[in-house]
Amino acid sequence: MVKNNSSAETKNIGLRGVTVADTKICGIHGEEGVLIYRGFNINVLVRSSTYEETSFLLLNGRLPDKQEFEQFKAALSRYRQVPDGIIQSLRIKPRTAHPMDVLQSCISMLAGYDTKVRDESRPANVEKALRLISATPTLVAAWERIRNGQEPVAPDNSLGHAANFLYMLTGNAPHPDTAKDLDICLILHADHSFNASTFTARSVASTRAHMYAAVTAAIGALMGELHGGANEQVMRMLEEIGAAEKVDDWVKARLAAGDKIMGMGHAVYRTNDPRALVLEQLSERLGYRTGETKWHRMSRRIEETTREEFYRMKGKEIYPNVDMYSASVYHQMGIATDLFTPVFAVSRMVGWCAHVIEEKFAEAQPKPAIYRPAADYTGHYCGNEGCDYLPLDDRS
Ligand SMILES: CC(C)(COP(=O)(O)OP(=O)(O)OC[C@H]1O[C@@H](n2cnc3c(N)ncnc32)[C@H](O)[C@@H]1OP(=O)(O)O)[C@@H](O)C(=O)NCCC(=O)NCCS
Repeated sequence: MVKNNSSAETKNIGLRGVTVADTKICGIHGEEGVLIYRGFNINVLVRSSTYEETSFLLLNGRLPDKQEFEQFKAALSRYRQVPDGIIQSLRIKPRTAHPMDVLQSCISMLAGYDTKVRDESRPANVEKALRLISATPTLVAAWERIRNGQEPVAPDNSLGHAANFLYMLTGNAPHPDTAKDLDICLILHADHSFNASTFTARSVASTRAHMYAAVTAAIGALMGELHGGANEQVMRMLEEIGAAEKVDDWVKARLAAGDKIMGMGHAVYRTNDPRALVLEQLSERLGYRTGETKWHRMSRRIEETTREEFYRMKGKEIYPNVDMYSASVYHQMGIATDLFTPVFAVSRMVGWCAHVIEEKFAEAQPKPAIYRPAADYTGHYCGNEGCDYLPLDDRS
């Protein structure tokens, strides 16, 4: 017998369109293609802000004054150096380990080095956020070097967040234009409301687990190819296709087979993703700067063919998402393909932390509760009478 225990009239598969909380951190207006961090349009922040200032904004709800900003940057610099024990642990990992798996385990290890890990006050949580934002680029860069048989490069506190990350990756101070371009990418990826990884972080925080546990779980969610892992898959797709003139046949064959085209589509946007618009221009600009326009041209062609073919097949529009053009941007910056999603994590760390803090210290009423959705049990129902449990020896 199957007994449905659901009280819900309809199921919301994937929780699409289900509102579970109020948030003041980030607003996505999917119909209009508008993305807002704490009341600031993303395009304004891209034009005028920096990743560090945007991080202050996301964490504190307002822009800093000069003194606050200097103090904030100094605090971020303080936490760039990661515990030696974690660097030692990198040395014994298999060099084939994916950087996202490595990052997830290292972020989890950070909890053990934080003497205030169980302090659930707001200041202690803000401190944890600063540690996490600062340590993430150091960990990603250290693994990149160690897996390539090189020594990690110590952070340079005279450099900003993006420039220092590139410096720790390569051992050379980056060109200011490249550092600025990466800074723009970090601003664009810093938050995106209740996406899968942020919801994961909030869900873990709702159990009163600490921030390290919440963001470790978020890293796990981010690595999937339907979420942050898509940027790596876009690059693999570009490399597999190989040339702009091969795009049409490749895309049509994939769509005809019912496959998804990575970097296309979004759960919320029903028009252009504003982040993709900025990244598309950046990708083109980098192509001219490096003298290799192929990656941008191919990405454009994939977008156009997917849109045309998708409309022909389904009678509706599809648009590129943030991962379509970030792939060629990172590639043209010389970043290894399997580091693309870790770069996403470098940026999104502040968003996760801001949401964990909001989850733990929400002013909204009613206060957030532990997340606990329901599911319909569709298996056999045996009530309190028990089932026919056969001892192992009696089962044929
Ligand atoms: C992001 C994503 C998971 C959103 O999924 P979603 O909310 O289920 O998307 P929608 O409900 O709008 O999908 C509607 C239809 O478009 C199809 N579709 C969505 N994205 C597609 C893609 N990239 N390629 C081909 N078809 C796609 C779906 O299969 C669905 O088809 P159906 O109506 O025949 O069932 C999805 O677009 C996707 O998988 N994209 C590729 C991975 C990616 O780039 N992820 C990064 C997201 S930022």
